Amino acid sequence: GSGFHASRRQKYGNVFKTHLLGRPLIRVTGAENVRKVLMGEHTLVTVDWPQSTATLLGPNSLANSIGDIHRKRRKVFAKVFSHEALESYLPKIQQVIQESLRVWSSNPEPINVYRESQRLSFTMAVRVLLGFRVSEEEMRHLFSTFQDFVDNLFSLPIDLPFSGYRKGIRARDTLQKCIEKAIREKPLRSQGKDYSDALDVLMESAKENGTELTMQELKESTIELIFAAFATTASASTSLIMQLLRHPAVLERLREELRARGLLHNGCLMPGELTLDTIVSLKYLDCVIKEVLRLFTPVSGAYRTAMQTFELDGVQIPKGWSVMYSIRDTHDTAAVFKDVDAFDPDRFSQERCEDKEGRFHYLPFGGGVRSCLGKQLATLFLRILAIELASTSRFELATRQFPRVVTVPVMHPVDGLKVLFLHDLSYASNRRRLCL
Ligand code: HEM
Repeated sequence: GSGFHASRRQKYGNVFKTHLLGRPLIRVTGAENVRKVLMGEHTLVTVDWPQSTATLLGPNSLANSIGDIHRKRRKVFAKVFSHEALESYLPKIQQVIQESLRVWSSNPEPINVYRESQRLSFTMAVRVLLGFRVSEEEMRHLFSTFQDFVDNLFSLPIDLPFSGYRKGIRARDTLQKCIEKAIREKPLRSQGKDYSDALDVLMESAKENGTELTMQELKESTIELIFAAFATTASASTSLIMQLLRHPAVLERLREELRARGLLHNGCLMPGELTLDTIVSLKYLDCVIKEVLRLFTPVSGAYRTAMQTFELDGVQIPKGWSVMYSIRDTHDTAAVFKDVDAFDPDRFSQERCEDKEGRFHYLPFGGGVRSCLGKQLATLFLRILAIELASTSRFELATRQFPRVVTVPVMHPVDGLKVLFLHDLSYASNRRRLCL
């Protein structure tokens, strides 16, 4: 656990040798060391996924691309997350979140927030990225197939009946078939700014860059995007809900900000007011999301392999060894953050701006040429979730104490976080008013 790593760090410093599944691994912490690793992508270090992950994600995925090919692929993807594209996804994201909150609050029993957030982030990815409008039944089937795929991404590459690897391959093939069918059935969308979903943008962007994506490339790309979005966004959503429950004063300040901006009247969100520019300009909301991602970093770090022998903080890293840059430990030990363990959104306010000392102290989305492509989409999703929670939801913790949080495979509460979403009559009537 992190206690083990903390004690090794105290003993050996910010760069030290440890082991992962019997192989030596160098663990790297601290803004300056992490900066060197991330800036050394393609020269000092490169990605090197286990065989199962490489096969399941496929040769056309970003994860498996390096150098120039990686750079070109990212360029094609960039448009999927442009301001214009995000603006066009916004109503769908809001709709998916509202639908989930409605289901949560119609349940008289407490819900498991982490499990439901996984479902919510998967639905968001499928609707926004693929533009699928599938039935509840089909969505459930897709979701369980996708879970089989994710559960076996890191399995031993033994292709035998009943092996995890075979299960993962079967899940991948089912998902690819589904996606291919949806792509073939896709109506020809209008051109230009009126984006419908990320797949449309992706195809258009490829054309603009002088290539056409093959069906295989499209299928691998969409599965990779859903994979990258799924667990990370679910973890962050759960942490956000937990922090709003723990800190009612923060929730109240969010409501005040919405009221002050004319977005909230009598506990009701004003219809049509929520544009991308408005959402991004909500300063306190921005601080809250940043602080959730600092203290509850969904991705603890990422792995690379040394392409040559090099030295970091006085420690020699031999060629071929694995290197893990730690995001969580870097956040936890950054001296720029005062009272580092406290949940304090104001540390990101204009007056204090504790992250101004260089970007590698604060890196929930990684950094360098492999930094998160979906960062804007992820923060937009979290902002809308917070707005919806602050404006129309009533919710309370259903257990006597807040659960312990574990960090593997991503940060989440041990019991999933049991929360009762209250069925609020004014909520229902507000919603009805909203629809008019
Ligand atoms: C709160 C949510 C999220 C967090 C904390 C997060 C974090 C990260 C981090 C740390 C990396 C870099 C990993 C590395 O250095 O190897 C990364 C990469 C990536 N992320 Fe995210 N992510 C989130 C959501 C998303 C979403 C919603 C999408 C897309 C829909 C996405 C797409 C990607 C992709 C495609 C990469 C690989 C980029 C490359 O290899 O060039 N992420 N993410």
